[in-house]
Amino acid sequence: MPKKIRHIRSKLFLWYKKNQRPLPWRETDDPYRIWVSEVMLQQTQVNTVLPFYRAFFPEFPNVKSLAQADITDVLKVWEGMGYYARARNLHRAAMTVVEKYDGKIPDNWHDFRKLPGVGDYIASAVLSIAFHEPHAVVDGNVKRVMARLLQIDAPVNKSASYKIFKEACETLLDRKHPGMFNQAIMELGALICKPRNPNCGTCPLQSFCRAYQCQTLDEYPKRIKKPPTPEYHIAVGVVFKNTRVLITRRKLEGLLGGLWEFPGGKVRNGESAEVACVREIREEVNICVEVNSFLTRVKHAYTHFKIYADVFCCNYLTGNVKLNGPIDYLWIKLQDIDRYPFPKANHKFIPLLKQMKL
Ligand code: ADE
Ligand code: SF4
Repeated sequence: MPKKIRHIRSKLFLWYKKNQRPLPWRETDDPYRIWVSEVMLQQTQVNTVLPFYRAFFPEFPNVKSLAQADITDVLKVWEGMGYYARARNLHRAAMTVVEKYDGKIPDNWHDFRKLPGVGDYIASAVLSIAFHEPHAVVDGNVKRVMARLLQIDAPVNKSASYKIFKEACETLLDRKHPGMFNQAIMELGALICKPRNPNCGTCPLQSFCRAYQCQTLDEYPKRIKKPPTPEYHIAVGVVFKNTRVLITRRKLEGLLGGLWEFPGGKVRNGESAEVACVREIREEVNICVEVNSFLTRVKHAYTHFKIYADVFCCNYLTGNVKLNGPIDYLWIKLQDIDRYPFPKANHKFIPLLKQMKL
């Protein structure tokens, strides 16, 4: 068995050295840059991450500059990439690194794993790639490759399966080259052992692969069926007061925390979207508005639910803004809207607002 494992590693490394993509985080040994890359890559694909990664460092070149930044500016660079808790945690973690570790990123599991937002995946990835510590990463790509290679029956989308995949990966891990090993497996999953139609013909692990040999490729990885995600109907109001519109900032905790948005909320059963819009704005920001016109309907899918939002242009009538939910508000000119980070669902109608002649 150890001989076979050595063989797998050497085949994988030969393939990786020749076929890896030239990615910017592979051209640095700066732990900060590697950390940022892994935080972005944890829930987002390489091609989507690239422009965000490049835009990040001119603004926040090192841990200290990130620690000192305003969270709105960090979210602005993250805007459009989703999973904004990552940005808030990275920001808080940078502050901890400056306060507790004098700006030096901890190079050991005990300290690094405790930082905000650092789970097993980030800790394993950063410690192995930046500090050459022997920890195996387990992400979606890795689980798919391992499930096929070893015919692992544990469903990849079930959290209880994590331990099984982690153990398999730790066994295979090359403890002398953990960073290269982890990246090579992830790269194989991204380029060859793809979710659909894997390129087994050019795969360096073909001769070791149980699913390939048993022709059970379409059975692996196994998944459990999850109930369909719920869909919510939302009403959103763009409230005009002379030449300005009202935006509110969400609480820092929770979904889309810290981002700006237009006020609104869920439409109740039997309620019209117009009525819900006026009601939600009264409840959330304590002002009285009337619906002027329907702007558009936008749809957006989040991880655990979907929304369709009816967006209305409203006129401000009476009342002073008093917040009950959001943590901040501004009456802004539409021409200044790009200064604030908004969730993607909002960006689906902001272009229409920009076109409006006031
Ligand atoms: N996905 C997660 N980490 C990665 C890395 N270092 N390179 C490529 N894809 C990744
Ligand atoms: Fe994946 Fe096919 Fe390679 Fe097996 S042989 S690891 S299924 S690409």
